[in-house]
Amino acid sequence: QKERTLAMIKPDAVTKVGDIIQMIYDAGLIVTKARMTRLSGKQAADFYMEHQSKSFFNNLVQFVSSGPVIVMELMGDEAVSVWRKVLGPTDSSVARKDASASLRAQFGTDGTKNAGHGSDSMASAARELEFFFPSTAGHSPPNTA
Ligand code: CMP
Repeated sequence: QKERTLAMIKPDAVTKVGDIIQMIYDAGLIVTKARMTRLSGKQAADFYMEHQSKSFFNNLVQFVSSGPVIVMELMGDEAVSVWRKVLGPTDSSVARKDASASLRAQFGTDGTKNAGHGSDSMASAARELEFFFPSTAGHSPPNTA
């Protein structure tokens, strides 16, 4: 099934964007949108609102707003699960115990500094893609008022 998902390269792995895009294409996915940005603390908290009650929430928001991130729309067969498989286990120190050299095993450090993010479902992907790549239908285009 053709799917779309949101990929984010976190601040600790932005310099590895070349290797990461290679991993995306090697996995059979394609990059259909891409943008570099920097999130404010408020934007990071909004993006991760489903985790606001978690113990790690403040660390997560602080880290992901600490520098630039690269966000991409990926497309392909089973894109949601394929991208999460490329990422590997959430905690990079756990990911390094796996035999496969996942993105987080190679470029992350621990549970917070973990190099990348991927939507966990098609519903999350729709919300997260809209967050970073808002559709303009029904809105005035910018700078025309
Ligand atoms: P991500 O895929 O961006 O989605 C939620 C994030 O929460 C996850 O990556 C981790 O960075 C972070 N996270 C999840 N569990 C923990 C944890 N136990 N300790 C610290 N951060 C965590």
